[in-house]
Amino acid sequence: MVSFATSPWHPAGSRDGPLGGEDGSVTRNPADDPGTTSDPPLDPPRGVLYLIGCGAPPVRQLDVLVRLAQADRWDVCVILTPAATTFVDADGLAALEALTGHPVRTRYKIPGTADVLPGADAMIVAPATCNTINKWAEGISDTLALGLVTEAIGKRLPLVALPFTNRAQAAHPAFGRHVEELRRWGVTVLYDGPDSLHEPGTGSDHLSTYPWHRALQALPAPGVAPPG
Ligand SMILES: Cc1cc2nc3c(=O)[nH]c(=O)nc-3n(C[C@H](O)[C@H](O)[C@H](O)COP(=O)(O)O)c2cc1C
Repeated sequence: MVSFATSPWHPAGSRDGPLGGEDGSVTRNPADDPGTTSDPPLDPPRGVLYLIGCGAPPVRQLDVLVRLAQADRWDVCVILTPAATTFVDADGLAALEALTGHPVRTRYKIPGTADVLPGADAMIVAPATCNTINKWAEGISDTLALGLVTEAIGKRLPLVALPFTNRAQAAHPAFGRHVEELRRWGVTVLYDGPDSLHEPGTGSDHLSTYPWHRALQALPAPGVAPPG
């Protein structure tokens, strides 16, 4: 397991919390390594990024976002909602674990057992379902994913949500209201109104244009406080 001694948002040893989980280990930050004098300076690691996938078709391609984030120097951990696991088969789960080097988590840990993931410095919810957006804004924590993102608002972590839902679902008045509430609380929700979305029943035709890169770009630069 990789864990970093420091991050832009957390000083060494400051991560804690019953949900996300850290094992308390502190390892050397590669950025502290002076290397040889002829080495070009390395960009420091960005920290630990939780990618939280919900039950919508793009979750089958979550590896795209994993790779983009890793290229941006994030140590990536994947959390899936129970509904998301119905979209990803066992091979897909194994591939995500091999890619990230961390177990893919779906359920709360059993009380008293060790945490298996390093604590998060930032989180992206993508694809974010209508269901999870609505429950998140209401503070409901009946999945591990919701528990993490609900608590993360209180921790003031950088948070980005990239919804994938259809025009009719998003036109429900609760959805727009909840998006606005999440934004007020500092979450960057990449949503431009129901007219920007696809028609019901056509989601599979829009997978290739789902803008994973926008979620990553929406995270604040290192050292910059999240909005809100
Ligand atoms: C085939 C299929 C496709 C779905 N596509 C979407 C979708 O694109 N967006 C969405 O918000 N919900 C979609 N849903 C519904 C969610 O999976 C459902 O609301 C679920 O409870 C979401 O749980 P979660 O938010 O915990 O992941 C889909 C369901 C199925 C079975």
